[in-house]
Amino acid sequence: MTALLPNHPALRPGSLGPLDLTNRLVVAPMTRVSARPDGVPTEAMADYYAEFAAGGFGLVVTEGIYPDAQFSQGYLNQPGLVTAEHVEGWRTITDRVHAQGARVVAQLMHAGALSQGNPHRDGTIAPSAVPPLGEMMPAYGGSGPFATPREATLADIVGVVEGFAAAARNAVAAGFDGVEVHGANGYLLDQFITEYTNQRTDRYGGSTANRARLTAEVVARIVTEAPGGFVVGVRVSQTKVNDVVYRWSGGADDVSVIAALLADAGAGYLHVASEGRSWFDTARLSDGTTVTGLAREVSSLPVIANGGMHDPDQAGRVLDAEHADFLAVGHGALANPDLPRRLAAGLDLASFDPAMLRPDVTLKTTSRWRQAV
Ligand SMILES: Cc1cc2nc3c(=O)[nH]c(=O)nc-3n(C[C@H](O)[C@H](O)[C@H](O)COP(=O)(O)O)c2cc1C
Repeated sequence: MTALLPNHPALRPGSLGPLDLTNRLVVAPMTRVSARPDGVPTEAMADYYAEFAAGGFGLVVTEGIYPDAQFSQGYLNQPGLVTAEHVEGWRTITDRVHAQGARVVAQLMHAGALSQGNPHRDGTIAPSAVPPLGEMMPAYGGSGPFATPREATLADIVGVVEGFAAAARNAVAAGFDGVEVHGANGYLLDQFITEYTNQRTDRYGGSTANRARLTAEVVARIVTEAPGGFVVGVRVSQTKVNDVVYRWSGGADDVSVIAALLADAGAGYLHVASEGRSWFDTARLSDGTTVTGLAREVSSLPVIANGGMHDPDQAGRVLDAEHADFLAVGHGALANPDLPRRLAAGLDLASFDPAMLRPDVTLKTTSRWRQAV
């Protein structure tokens, strides 16, 4: 029997830029490929997001949403924020989440070379024509090696920035409290940041600052147009869906350059992802500091840490030692959509069962799993 933990630091209210949140627990963005084929969100998605809000999470970050009808879509049945119907579908979801007292931010994602399903265009674009490591993910509807991408022209890059800006306007119209620019996990913006996928010799390649330039430009552009009170966050990571061992070669220097650039661009928060690894594994730097702690110090922005944060001990230590201000929970939230309420009541947490996402990551698969247990 676990003791009551109503005083756990994750249950304290906090401010994420302009957003006042009821606690420090955030649902991590999770792609579920459960939208209609034309990218319109469904009622089942509204139920899924509302359940986390009813379970006490202060903030829900949506799955990665494609921002344009060009090269951004990564997966078939991924939701979009491009058409009036997309906006209407998301409006139902933001209303449902708000009705439970939580906030909701739209994660905007351009898949770049990691696209494995895009009905809008043939082929993929990336900083350079480098074939991605690994293979497409069957649980998200792909198979076999990724295509070799085409090197993005400067006109393509302008189009990417425009796409993010248009999607952010649509996010405002759909009632979101903010957007999170997906600069993590190996997708387009991270392909620019990463040395081995970016071999450009123009102002978007070379130094760390040049490689992070596109992410900063996207953030700055959205911030210019964002209404007051609308938060514009950005997610970055060292690890990637197709490379969980990658680390920034510049270590602490890279963290400082990237965090400072994004703060200068006007970001409201930084979110450091930990794909396939724990926070402890990906955040530790050789000098004993952490990526999240250093990003927080350099940027003076609130930082969201991620990677195994459903563990109350680790969560408490990260907040108490000021390594981060908020905690994003992925697998632990799938297993416990009411994790904040359980934490407050001292109830045991359910462990994540990989069968919830097998053979695919759709909501239907999880709902079948629930009926079977
Ligand atoms: C099914 C699934 C889908 C995911 N999709 C996304 C996504 O769309 N965008 C993103 O930034 N991260 C995505 N992630 C990564 C999570 O946000 C998170 O970083 C990762 O699961 C590690 O956190 P955890 O230890 O709490 O699970 C996904 C993870 C899972 C399990």
